[in-house]
Amino acid sequence: MTAWFSYTAFAVTVVLASTALFFFTLTRGALLMRGFAGRLTHDAAHVYPIYSNMRLIRLIDWQPIISAILLFQYSNLVSIIVHGLNRDNLKGKQILITSCAFGNVMPRVTQAAIDSGASKVLVADIIQNELDHAERKMTVYAGKTAYAQDNAIAMKQADSSVSANVMFFLLHELPNDLKNEAIKEAMRVLEPGGKLYLGEFHRPSTWVLRALSWTYFKVFEPYGLSLWNTHDPVLQLQAMPGVKCERHTVFFDNFQVIVATKPA
Ligand SMILES: C[S@@+](CC[C@H](N)C(=O)[O-])C[C@H]1O[C@@H](n2cnc3c(N)ncnc32)[C@H](O)[C@@H]1O
Repeated sequence: MTAWFSYTAFAVTVVLASTALFFFTLTRGALLMRGFAGRLTHDAAHVYPIYSNMRLIRLIDWQPIISAILLFQYSNLVSIIVHGLNRDNLKGKQILITSCAFGNVMPRVTQAAIDSGASKVLVADIIQNELDHAERKMTVYAGKTAYAQDNAIAMKQADSSVSANVMFFLLHELPNDLKNEAIKEAMRVLEPGGKLYLGEFHRPSTWVLRALSWTYFKVFEPYGLSLWNTHDPVLQLQAMPGVKCERHTVFFDNFQVIVATKPA
């Protein structure tokens, strides 16, 4: 019995440690290596290999893995966005998904937008492989979707050109100065009365979760912690004239969906 328990504990530890090492190597570790090699200068330098290498994209984009990373709150968060889009009148309008995301968020958002009358869903991402992968996942919406390589901090999209803009877990991966630019751009491209749906991490309300979350950010995603305070998106959005914000938090406040409405 004791031996069986020890073997199991050892096996679980090895699996968890290998998974952590795998993700560290392909996220923060890769950025550290780029920094040492002086290769952090181009526009996509902050993007992890798991989002740029097609083999890795295909390996990781598996719903159970993605749900587990978001502590099984993924579906709840997407549902908040979907319910919002279901209530919007998008008849003949264009909506934007700013940056691809793994799992089923893009198909669910696209379906909700089409159900609300949208004529086109544009997906924009800085990495062409992500767009190609997204297009393969969304063939069923082929006539209603378009894909454009674009940078969230300097979008090619015209002012006031979309009625809704969905940004799902992009901000925590951007350096702080770029977070502000991305929010400004996200609001610029919205038409008056249009809505920005922003899914992100949030400061947990319980100290245990806060300690675990803090450790996670320090090790894997150092740009994410500032969302708790100095770069809380709601602070920036509410400082914009006339912008109204709602914040929905889930799982002891560990995650949030912000809905920001541009003044009509
Ligand atoms: C949305 S975030 C991560 C989402 C989340 N972790 C997931 O996939 O479940 C990852 C995406 O953002 C894209 N991205 C990163 N920086 C970007 C930028 N400046 N402009 C547009 N897309 C960007 C990456 O290429 C990648 O497709």
